[in-house]
Amino acid sequence: MNFDLTEEQIAVRDAARDFARTELLPGVIERDDKQQFPAEQIRKMGELGFMGMMVDPKYNGGGMDTVSYVLAMEELSKVDASCSVAMSVNNSLVCWGLEKFGTEEQKEKYLKRLATGEIIGAFCLSEPEAGSDATSQRTTAEDMGDYYLLNGTKNWITNGSSASVYIVMAQTHVEKGHKGINALIVEKDMPGFVVGKKEDKLGIRGSDTHSLMFTDVKVPKENRIGEDGFGFKFAMTTLNGGRIGIAAQALGIASGAYELALAYAQERKAFGKKIAHHQAIQFKLADMATQIEAARMLCLKAAFLKDQGKDFAQAGSMAKLYASEVAMNVTIEAVQVHGGYGYVKEYHVERLMRDAKITQIYEGTSEIQRIVIARGLLDS
Ligand code: CAA
Ligand code: FAD
Repeated sequence: MNFDLTEEQIAVRDAARDFARTELLPGVIERDDKQQFPAEQIRKMGELGFMGMMVDPKYNGGGMDTVSYVLAMEELSKVDASCSVAMSVNNSLVCWGLEKFGTEEQKEKYLKRLATGEIIGAFCLSEPEAGSDATSQRTTAEDMGDYYLLNGTKNWITNGSSASVYIVMAQTHVEKGHKGINALIVEKDMPGFVVGKKEDKLGIRGSDTHSLMFTDVKVPKENRIGEDGFGFKFAMTTLNGGRIGIAAQALGIASGAYELALAYAQERKAFGKKIAHHQAIQFKLADMATQIEAARMLCLKAAFLKDQGKDFAQAGSMAKLYASEVAMNVTIEAVQVHGGYGYVKEYHVERLMRDAKITQIYEGTSEIQRIVIARGLLDS
């Protein structure tokens, strides 16, 4: 078994690390405080190729593997998880879904601009009454011949106001259940589409999470992704890859907090010695480092399987489940290592602790990941 990264993977990781320190760190506290969407930072991430990392170069993407994507996600998430969630949605849910299942026309029209970050995308599955229970979609896409008439409300949509292109799941044939759902590409300026209220959140406060309302929006038939009724399968298959991205985000939040705690423990003195020389603190650091390493292995394994063209759904769910729990544990301990200083914004760890929580909720809660994992165990 070879654990070595390739030269290209190391270069991607180092570029992401450098970018996070120089471009994301300045202003991250203020953006969180003011709930300011990191538009300028995301524009630069697009220039560096972070918004369409895995897309084929013929559609303006970076042509990189999923392992490189995980490495970049970890580095950027160490500093600013609001930037990395925009990156994760654009890369794994929007670009990947379009590249894998879209028509050539859809790729020309949308993917080429999404892959460079010139525009960004959103993935719209959740509704006020349908989160974990994603098959119970109430948004409807009535078949009107050469277009669909879209009506309904989506909730909690990341990149909600800043996206230009939205992939919306909606029910066309209610009697067919999940086999009646379609995935439609909706443009922001289509008449009848309104971006609703912005959520005031615990964490990832720079990310713009909105509800979306659709009233008699005419979506051309050529904007449907895949065959009639493929929408739910599209969403689930795409989320399998998305969960690797969020697992890597959780890993980054954890490793960012750990690095801060490690440095602080070697500076701060109490009872005549550095707190790192108290065994209670050493044990915390040892547990944090061990959990992070295990989470990293799960993330890289899932990415490796995806790159090999193997089934990665269960591995992705395991990575997300474990890495998100590690993010929560490690960030809480990082605040503890900082004592009172950990409780104030200036030291960054309180933000990372608030950001960690969402990784246990979106792209399938921890309970849903356990359901996916258990089903895989019972089927095998
Ligand atoms: N991969 C591929 N197909 C899958 C799948 C997977 N992981 N999980 C289910 N499916 C398919 C099934 O095979 C089935 O298709 P067939 O009938 O053709 O076999 C179909 O989907 C329905 O599956 P189930 O009968 O298992 O459906 P269910 O109602 O029992 O629920 C679920 C399945 C796994 C719980 C699913 O509803 C789920 O994943 N829920 C969580 C939703 C979620 O993750 N939302 C995230 C929104 S996006 C987001 O959050 C982005 C962000 O924050 C940044
Ligand atoms: P519910 O499904 O109501 O769950 C409530 C609780 O019940 C949870 O603990 C859950 O795990 C548990 N539960 C539910 N069913 C079961 C079961 N069968 N067994 C055991 N426990 C169960 N969605 C999108 O489509 N696109 C986005 O871009 C997006 N971005 C988001 C950004 C943020 C900041 C947030 C908060 C959410 C976002 N979401 C997005 C929605 C997210 O995916 C859902 O919130 C999530 O899937 C959970 O759905 P819910 O909130 O309706 O909770």
